[in-house]
Amino acid sequence: MTNPLAGRRIVITAGPTLEAIDPVRFISNRSSGKQGYAIAEACAVLGANVVLVSGPTALNDPAGVETIRIESARDMLAAVEGALPADVFIAVAAVADWRPAEAHDKKIKGNKGEMAALPLVENPDILKTISQRTEARPGLVIGFAAETHDVEDHARQKLGRKGCDWIIANDVSGDVMGGDENAVAIVSRDDVWRSQRTSKSEIARLIAGRIADAVEETC
Ligand code: C5P
Repeated sequence: MTNPLAGRRIVITAGPTLEAIDPVRFISNRSSGKQGYAIAEACAVLGANVVLVSGPTALNDPAGVETIRIESARDMLAAVEGALPADVFIAVAAVADWRPAEAHDKKIKGNKGEMAALPLVENPDILKTISQRTEARPGLVIGFAAETHDVEDHARQKLGRKGCDWIIANDVSGDVMGGDENAVAIVSRDDVWRSQRTSKSEIARLIAGRIADAVEETC
């Protein structure tokens, strides 16, 4: 079938989130957005109606994908919830776990030589929030795990903690971050599927294909 995801709606998060400290400063995570954008595009090529909710990246909007640009984790969650209902939700974003307790509306002036404390509060866990929805939970909820060791063990633990259906685990002990290649393991409750090490765009096509097979059965 050339368009196995036709008629399916897929919501994807990608990139970092950016949490304001004041008008000129923020805290964030390192994330190029490349893998999430590639997955969004690969799903669109298979005919899906794709909404990409992206933090700030240097990438162009992927072809054939509705792209919503946000900055903070809270805005990312609101945009994802606004894009539901969907058949599939894929959390690829490197969401900042914490944000400053207060975003100052004027630039904070520090005294030289004096360290300012920066109180932080926890951000919402977007993947967990969507996984645990009782209403309009997507039939297939997918998270990512970047690990440096015991990749599949950690992925399985994360499946339980987040309540999602798949964890796509990648080993980031090499040069995956910001690079163009990746290798992943798709871990579900009763199965593991391992890819070769290949380009992020080929990984995205493989993932889109696995999703197409799974929605046939689950959604
Ligand atoms: O807990 P950890 O950050 O390792 O989990 C990674 C997975 O959870 C990724 O799929 C990421 O997009 C998602 N996540 C999220 N919201 C957070 C933290 C992580 O959606 N606040």
